Amino acid sequence: MNDMDTVLITGASSGIGRELAKVFALHKYNIILVSRSTEKLRKLADELIDEYKIKVEIIGQDLSKVGAAKKLFDNVTDRNLQVDVLINNAGVGAVGLFHEIEIEKDMEMLKLNIITLTEITKLFSRKMIERKKGKILNVASTGSFAPGPFIAIYYATKAYVLSFSEALYKELKPYNVTVTVLCPGATRTNFAKAAGRENSSIAMEPDKVAKIAYEGLKNNKRVVIPGVANKILTRLPRNFVSDMVFRYQKKLSVKKK
Ligand SMILES: NC(=O)c1ccc[n+]([C@@H]2O[C@H](COP(=O)([O-])OP(=O)(O)OC[C@H]3O[C@@H](n4cnc5c(N)ncnc54)[C@H](OP(=O)(O)O)[C@@H]3O)[C@@H](O)[C@H]2O)c1
Repeated sequence: MNDMDTVLITGASSGIGRELAKVFALHKYNIILVSRSTEKLRKLADELIDEYKIKVEIIGQDLSKVGAAKKLFDNVTDRNLQVDVLINNAGVGAVGLFHEIEIEKDMEMLKLNIITLTEITKLFSRKMIERKKGKILNVASTGSFAPGPFIAIYYATKAYVLSFSEALYKELKPYNVTVTVLCPGATRTNFAKAAGRENSSIAMEPDKVAKIAYEGLKNNKRVVIPGVANKILTRLPRNFVSDMVFRYQKKLSVKKK
């Protein structure tokens, strides 16, 4: 990775995405911040420009809408920006019984976590392949490794992200485009609350996750799992983990009612 390359980060207004922006700023990247909360992005951009003397662009956009990826790609192209590092970080979850969760929430998850991520990767990777240079970081989860009762769709979307990214890792290698998939476990961000849960007491801090992700990306790692406990979790038999998730989420769901 070179000085003054440009990184595009989706979901940069909070949590892991925001911390990734800070890490890349520290390493002298220009940054394109994307999410719905334009005000938060503006504030972060001003802080990063002030502290690191880099260029920061913001794009306020809802990435769960049909056609969002193309709109984002066209916006970046119209601004004459080149994306050297693409980070597909924006994601949402929902906890509860599948039949009780509103279908609109399911569709939002599927569109944001799978469809937009896939389309963005397609559009920007083509440019990287032409240039024979690029890096992609897709954010999956420890939930990518086993089925998740009471959080079924979210885990399934993240299983897609892991499988898709690992396949692309091999496909894009000959073009000098690397693909890394980040699989965090519970992390102290807005994510749990948005998904209908409290943060876990053992959640990792997002700045730590972002630093580990940056190192993994820099070293062309295929899969990056932050934290020893998370690494162990992903190596346990998937039926055992799935039963564990079932019991844990069921207990929390009953407590909530
Ligand atoms: N926290 C965890 O425990 C955990 C564990 C494993 C994996 N992950 C994954 O880590 C990634 C980042 O999540 P986080 O933990 O940092 O959560 P977070 O603090 O809630 O951040 C989510 C980011 O995604 C953006 N976003 C959500 N919906 C969007 C939409 N429709 N269009 C555009 N941007 C949207 C949000 O920005 P706006 O609201 O401004 O749009 C925000 O910047 C997600 O992919 C998540 O699945 C999180």
